[in-house]
Amino acid sequence: MSTTYTVDGATSRATPVPAPMKRVTIPAIRARKAGIAAGTAEPLVMLTAYTVRTAQLLDPHCDLLLVGDSLGQVVYGLASTVPVTLEMMAAHGAAVVRGSHHAVVVIDMPFGSYEASREQAFASAARLMKETGAAAVKLEGGEAMAPTVRFLSERGVPVMGHVGLTPQAVNVLGGYAARGRDEAEAAKIVADATAVADAGAFALVVEGVVEPVAVAITRAVACPTIGIGASAQCDGQVLVAEDMLGLFERTPRFVKRFGDLAAQIDAAVAAYAADVRARAFPGPEQVYAPRG
Ligand code: KIV
Repeated sequence: MSTTYTVDGATSRATPVPAPMKRVTIPAIRARKAGIAAGTAEPLVMLTAYTVRTAQLLDPHCDLLLVGDSLGQVVYGLASTVPVTLEMMAAHGAAVVRGSHHAVVVIDMPFGSYEASREQAFASAARLMKETGAAAVKLEGGEAMAPTVRFLSERGVPVMGHVGLTPQAVNVLGGYAARGRDEAEAAKIVADATAVADAGAFALVVEGVVEPVAVAITRAVACPTIGIGASAQCDGQVLVAEDMLGLFERTPRFVKRFGDLAAQIDAAVAAYAADVRARAFPGPEQVYAPRG
């Protein structure tokens, strides 16, 4: 079964939303676990998207689009995801929903918008879903967040969990190094994953863990795991789109570059600048002649 669709070539900036088609659903994502484990269904494909045009381009190829709070670093140049706000997530989430019609759109709950109480989490999740049209939220954390995951799931908010290296906890963790290198930490991460999955998460991002931990989690939980810096044996994979497209010269070890957009943009902008300076742009095709 292929999940790749063709890009709608009629799309332009003037008509940004292609004709709607039925989106992948949360139950369909969850149900893929059994088929993936049995080898009869393909692994899940997820990428981050923050803007309408990126969403349009990624949507035909993805099962899920993640409006990640990594936008704090990628779009806003922030030092971490900690300063990202609900307002930023809502604005970018709405753009991604407008630019997609196939993939499930999942939106990150930013740091400080869900940890204080289950009620705070529900209010933040409801706001994001109402203002963006996203079908689900993602939140970071393990056993401590399991009651919140259950509270939201039982109240109409599909939750994607996120365990292992949780970037919003960078100030507690002291950096972005891979987790689960010693036995106690590995066992804790597996317990975190199991708690969140048992609480009703429909899928689980497993980030930055040593491979045996990712494999153990994938075997232990009933919902699909989506790895990043984890293992090919996860039920799916996610990357930050700008990383895999080659927009950054430096990327983490777990990123594979599938494109070289930084070099292409550099070449295109250099050509534009040269044309402007040589008065070769605009040419006769790009200027308006008077009528008659
Ligand atoms: O914010 C993000 O982009 C993420 C992914 C890296 C999983 O959480």
